[in-house]
Amino acid sequence: MHFDIFTLFPDMFAGVLADSIIMRAKEAGHISIAMHDIRGYAQGKHQVTDDAPYGGGGGMVMKPEPIFRALEAVLGLENETSSCTPIILLSPQGRLFTQAVARELAQHKRLALICGRYEGVDERVRQFLATDEMSIGDYVLSGGEIAAMVIVDAVTRLLPGVLGDPAATERDSHADGLLEHPHYTRPAEFRSHAVPEMLLSGHHAEIARWRRRESLRRTLERRPDLLARADLSPEDKAFLRKLGWPPPEV
Ligand SMILES: C[S@@+](CC[C@H](N)C(=O)[O-])C[C@H]1O[C@@H](n2cnc3c(N)ncnc32)[C@H](O)[C@@H]1O
Repeated sequence: MHFDIFTLFPDMFAGVLADSIIMRAKEAGHISIAMHDIRGYAQGKHQVTDDAPYGGGGGMVMKPEPIFRALEAVLGLENETSSCTPIILLSPQGRLFTQAVARELAQHKRLALICGRYEGVDERVRQFLATDEMSIGDYVLSGGEIAAMVIVDAVTRLLPGVLGDPAATERDSHADGLLEHPHYTRPAEFRSHAVPEMLLSGHHAEIARWRRRESLRRTLERRPDLLARADLSPEDKAFLRKLGWPPPEV
């Protein structure tokens, strides 16, 4: 997977992309990341990348020309609709980035991410350049850089070979619509708080059953909204019914 990240602040990425799983994925050749400084594609002596909004009001808006020029040069676009690489505009107004969307993006060979700043980017970037618009949550960040890092991280760990245990991502929270069960490690007792007996039993089938139930229990407690869309077996449903799910209709 190759990521092209278009930003006014390429230095922000240095720490995040040079450590841990992302760094190892790069070293092993699973991913490559190219940073593109949008300012480098702005014209004129001052390489201006933003301007005042038409219609007045406060703040500045990122100009369309440097962004179009940057993507056309890097992706080799011949016209506005010629990209087979998803061009994702980061925006709090976009479709919500979820684990399912991360899986969808992980199917591509290349992704382009455009990081907005200030009041956002000129609307024509969204209309005539971006092929997708994505939000990492219902809040407003100062810029798209952190959102781009989130997407690179979540997508990278789904790529084959990136994690030592290939099944790990299938057990993660949100992989099958549920939150994952709790984890414990040594010591078996810490400040008089003991690890659940079942996990020390060595009975793998019973442990798997316990974990599934804990996963269902905490999803019900913390994110009951997820249960309506989760893939539940008859046994799961029977267990949830004992916990009072679904709630009686009002
Ligand atoms: C301060 S925000 C602009 C918000 C814009 N005025 C609005 O209300 O929709 C600047 C940039 O941060 C990025 N951004 C902010 N919140 C985001 C979110 N939740 N997800 C993805 N990107 C976000 C976008 O690239 C956006 O252009």
